[in-house]
Amino acid sequence: MNRQILVTSALPYANGPIHLGHLVEYIQTDIWVRYQKLRGNRCIYLCADDTHGTAIMIRAKNEGQSEEDLIASMSQSHQQDFARFGIQFDHYGSTNSLENKELCGIFWTALRNAGLITERTIEQLYDPEANTFLADRFVRGTCPKCGLTDQAGDNCNCGHTYSPTDLIDPKSTLSGSTPVLRNAIHLFVELEKLRGFLTQWVEEGNHLQTEVANYLKGHFLSDELRDWDISRPAPYFGFEIPDAPGHYWYVWFDAPIGYIATTEQWCQANGESLAAWWKNDECEIHHFIGKDITYFHTLFWPGMLQTAGFNLPTQVHIHGFLTINGGKMSKSKGTFIAADTYLKYNNPSYLRYFYATKLTQRVEDLDLGIDEFARKVNTDLVGKVVNLASRVGKFAHQTGLADHYPDDGGLFDQGVKAGDEIAAAYECKDYSKAIRRIMELADAANPYVEHAKPWEMRKDPARENDLRAVCTVAINLFRQLTIYLAPVLPDLAEQCSQWLGEPIESWDQSKSHLLGTKVGKFNRMLDRVQIEDLEKMIEESKNTAEETQETASSSFCDSDQPLKDEPLADEISIEDFAKVDLRVARVLAAEHVPEANKLLKLQLSLGGDERRQVFAGIKAAYEPEQLVGRLVVMVANLKPRKMRFGLSEGMVTAAGPGGAEVFILGIDDGALPGQRVH
Ligand code: 2FM
Ligand code: ZN
Repeated sequence: MNRQILVTSALPYANGPIHLGHLVEYIQTDIWVRYQKLRGNRCIYLCADDTHGTAIMIRAKNEGQSEEDLIASMSQSHQQDFARFGIQFDHYGSTNSLENKELCGIFWTALRNAGLITERTIEQLYDPEANTFLADRFVRGTCPKCGLTDQAGDNCNCGHTYSPTDLIDPKSTLSGSTPVLRNAIHLFVELEKLRGFLTQWVEEGNHLQTEVANYLKGHFLSDELRDWDISRPAPYFGFEIPDAPGHYWYVWFDAPIGYIATTEQWCQANGESLAAWWKNDECEIHHFIGKDITYFHTLFWPGMLQTAGFNLPTQVHIHGFLTINGGKMSKSKGTFIAADTYLKYNNPSYLRYFYATKLTQRVEDLDLGIDEFARKVNTDLVGKVVNLASRVGKFAHQTGLADHYPDDGGLFDQGVKAGDEIAAAYECKDYSKAIRRIMELADAANPYVEHAKPWEMRKDPARENDLRAVCTVAINLFRQLTIYLAPVLPDLAEQCSQWLGEPIESWDQSKSHLLGTKVGKFNRMLDRVQIEDLEKMIEESKNTAEETQETASSSFCDSDQPLKDEPLADEISIEDFAKVDLRVARVLAAEHVPEANKLLKLQLSLGGDERRQVFAGIKAAYEPEQLVGRLVVMVANLKPRKMRFGLSEGMVTAAGPGGAEVFILGIDDGALPGQRVH
């Protein structure tokens, strides 16, 4: 039975350009959507610009234009960037739409009727020059704990968190003036009243990745749920609350409702009914988001949907952040790369492919290492897949494809057999696994051509049939790989379609041969990445990218295991603890131990020439290539243990019950191999 699936990505803020960090999510989602469509499911992919809030209001004012003009031009540039990366929305809307305003009213009435709205006066900092209340991020000052100057409104580099009213010598970032405290009425949603429903939704039905559900249970649901401040006093760019004049819905209230408003617009354009998508148990709703906005999508949003009687999300798919060359994206290092800058130097397919090789179903950060990027694209994508076509392209144009499929030693059938496993990997978002399987097939296909040497056959007219047979096999294997890669590489699929005169429309085409047909003239499909281009891209990104991304206030960390599952150990003295020498180590190499079911063999560096070999029981949870390059925390003075496979010289620290549920301890950016953990 075909599934009916509505998919969204987070709505990007209209106050900044799309960058490579954003694209992790849009590419992840687009691959999933294309896969669903290829499988014949009825799937729509919707997105919109997130247009409201103080940041947009201030920017428009600074630029001397109306908010409407600003968001119109941002929408255009966002949509252009997305399209150039092959991200294909069925509709792209805006939260500043009539449909959204109307739906906000419907949600609001439902929340009021359910007795969930309450009103309170709060004290907030106010900028007397800009005439506006100040969100935390618009205030900076001296940390009340350590005295560091120029710290953010809610936290200091020293790690201390506080309220902006606690800052010493606070200044408004909007005008530089000293803010004053003012009273303001705010409206709140009493989330605690929805605790029963939310707990059940988080715990049951597989709506969330396990680590996310555990995080919510440990961090939020274990305590009273705080009221959610849902209004902002004027001036504010947003929708005025009908029964509270002078007050506006906070941007995070109307943003997710924008998912439904965008569906409404799509329905109007396509003669569909909104109820068939949002009030229909048969329809699946899938939200793809980043880990920083977990709280909004897994507590507030389900609470709002439940109260207003709309479908709840079937799944919220949460991914980690992008790091580049192992560090946070940084303007000064040139790794804060705008979509537009990337496209000046690189083919979008490279990035789609690279992200696919790195993405799994876990909430992990993903690193774009420039060398790894070039290697994967050049060696695997161009060297193995595209090369398969280029090696026979010219000859195939002369010979055409044979009427009967020649003996290929079982290669095509092996590919058919792998199809279900590749499909399952796409379905559960383990794209990294899907690509690995596809590359294994490519690895098997290439020696066939090398061995057959079509370039020699072509010199001998008597061997034309042999040449045709080799071309037929190589092209069918290439076509099968291209179908499997079509969700990731739509451009390659399109080129293959044009070349062979057969549109790639369905996954099942991978199961049958293409025979007895002419083959078009071969045009080069994809060039190799040039390291110089990547260097130019980084150079251009230095100090030109805008770091205007507005981040949500919620943060995310890994799951909490309830203490009752593993009681605390006996008390120890600080001297006891000091006996354990914990060190930061970098994973230099990681490999499977063929004879061991649970172990990976790791080579760790403690800085300089200090190396340790460790066997870690993490095979079910990590692929070796996910680990190479990352920092771990190891017990460095553990007595070496002789194992069947070699000496294990320490232990990598990790949490979790075991099996696939193992989470290696990480460490913040800046730590170096060899440093001691105290
Ligand atoms: O974090 C962000 O970039 C938000 N603009 C995402 C909004 S998602 C949804 F709720 F609209
Ligand atoms: Zn401080």
